[in-house]
Amino acid sequence: MREIENIVILTGAGISAESGLATFRGPDGLWEGHRVEDICTPQALARDPVLVQTFYDARRAALATVEPNAAHRALAKLDAEWPGELLIVTQNVDDLHERAGASRMLHMHGELKSALCRRCGGRSAWEATLIDGPTCPECASSGGLRPDIVFFGEMPYQMERIETALEDADLFVSIGTSGAVYPAAGFVQTARHYGARTLELNLDPSAGSHFFHETRIGPAGELVPAWVAEILS
Ligand code: OAD
Repeated sequence: MREIENIVILTGAGISAESGLATFRGPDGLWEGHRVEDICTPQALARDPVLVQTFYDARRAALATVEPNAAHRALAKLDAEWPGELLIVTQNVDDLHERAGASRMLHMHGELKSALCRRCGGRSAWEATLIDGPTCPECASSGGLRPDIVFFGEMPYQMERIETALEDADLFVSIGTSGAVYPAAGFVQTARHYGARTLELNLDPSAGSHFFHETRIGPAGELVPAWVAEILS
């Protein structure tokens, strides 16, 4: 096994579950009462903008009611103390990693606290609602802002940077994701192909569990602090 210098961490909805945010594929298969496909597509936004904008406005407002948990805090500690390269790639659209203090991170599926203008393509930090058709801070047009969320069929953000980090990784760790959505679900194979050790931390074995060298089963709030303590020691 090669010495570990460069780490890439992929996180999914499971890392925020203990903060009180619903995962996408819960036991009933619904996300806050909806099929993910009925909300997270450009077609859904075009067909029923009130439903989609109201839904994401509610998710954005709900962020004020939750706090980072022990798993977010442990990754922020790793970010602060790890001397090598580190990149936290989150599929989550919440802001709990950054509120815990992580900075070497990116949101590949967009962010609730950002608005995307369909007119100019500008991305603007956003705290308020979008249902009322506010003005774009970039181009001053109104009614063109949508949630800055990567819908099904759209290209995730920063894929080139992620691919490069995966190629250089000595260790790839996947936390709290079901492995149901590509390209993120394929990161383990890319990292392994380029020689990384691979570790999964999840409540249940994910769809791609067999691709990992090691899988640890349990809640992120326990597994992640224990793993961070281990790797920093
Ligand atoms: P999912 O809801 O598909 O999967 C969540 C995973 O977290 C499951 O494997 C659970 O077993 C696990 N889990 C639940 N509670 C946990 C806990 N306390 N500790 C550790 N693991 C726990 O969520 P994602 O894999 O993140 O995309 O979903 C991927 C993408 O699908 C999302 O980014 C979203 C959705 O479509 C967009 O919105 C663009």
